[in-house]
Amino acid sequence: MSNIEQLVRDNVRKLTPYQSARRIGGKGDVWLNANEYPEATAYQLTEQTLNRYPECQPVKVIERYAAYAGVKPQQVLVSRGADEGIELLMRAFCEPGKDAVLYCPPTYGMYSVSAETLGVERRTVPATADWQLDIPAIERALDGVKLLYVCSPNNPTGNLINPDDIRTLLDMTAGRALVVVDEAYIEFCPQASVVSWLKQYPNLVVLRTLSKAFALAGLRCGFTLASEEIIGILLKVIAPYPLSTPVADIAAQALTEAGISTMRKRVESLNARRDRLQQQLKECGDVTMTYGSETNYLLFKLTDSERVFKALWDKGIILRDQNKQPGLQGCLRISIGTQRECDAVIDALKAL
Ligand SMILES: Cc1ncc(COP(=O)(O)O)c(C=O)c1O
Repeated sequence: MSNIEQLVRDNVRKLTPYQSARRIGGKGDVWLNANEYPEATAYQLTEQTLNRYPECQPVKVIERYAAYAGVKPQQVLVSRGADEGIELLMRAFCEPGKDAVLYCPPTYGMYSVSAETLGVERRTVPATADWQLDIPAIERALDGVKLLYVCSPNNPTGNLINPDDIRTLLDMTAGRALVVVDEAYIEFCPQASVVSWLKQYPNLVVLRTLSKAFALAGLRCGFTLASEEIIGILLKVIAPYPLSTPVADIAAQALTEAGISTMRKRVESLNARRDRLQQQLKECGDVTMTYGSETNYLLFKLTDSERVFKALWDKGIILRDQNKQPGLQGCLRISIGTQRECDAVIDALKAL
């Protein structure tokens, strides 16, 4: 171990960093591994005051997001992506070495990585066979848990979590823990949002992002929605200037009425393309199963997923391998690209 290595915190030395799509690499021209929107919208910067520090919580962005989500501005926190929201909650609520966070694999990887980075215990309760919450097992595992992360729709499986189970969880944890519902993909199934429950459940937190349906993954802008009290606590631990002036400028534009209406049109055509792609995947010889999805990606199972993943990779088509996730042996995840990209995948699969 080098001198520097000896100085590193124990948990960081042992940490496997999040394998983001960009870190994994690949030399593709068809990028379908990060659940991004496949086409960019052009924006013009309108704020030129880069000599000044930005607002910590840019008022226009907060007000517009609050109006869009149907909550009070005091119930909104804006951060560098939903990922920062995931971590801020742990920093504010979990004592390293004492408290735990709970989540239900297979699910989004950052709940684990953030907890590990901060030295907070990770308690996992595997999802049931149909990727729902195992409520009795969660109840048995609650001791010392301060935060429960529920991803709905879930990444990478694409399904919604049963709302009755989320209510059960909120009741079960009332006064003891917060239930954080990660709605990163909710624009693809807006009727399923639990944001209106914030009035009723003081222990509910909702995470959102501009990275998916708003087509702004490169902007790094996400939201935490919760009671005024919880938002006030998170404001104590957030960086003084989390969003740069250009980020706030573009986020405010994306959240105008016109921006929201463009997003909704995008969702409509993407959902139709996703359903067509699912149909076509079913007709490919190597595909043994496709799973329903409420998101901008599909999970599917193959007879030999490693061979197919590699063959597509070599053709410059980059998907996400889910083999190592619990219960997802033989599965790949594909983000819904442009029609041309979806056609390229189907052609490549049929040619194998
Ligand atoms: C379920 C889920 N939550 C949060 C995020 C992070 O979103 P952001 O880009 O806003 O950090 C992602 C990104 O893929 C995600 O899939």
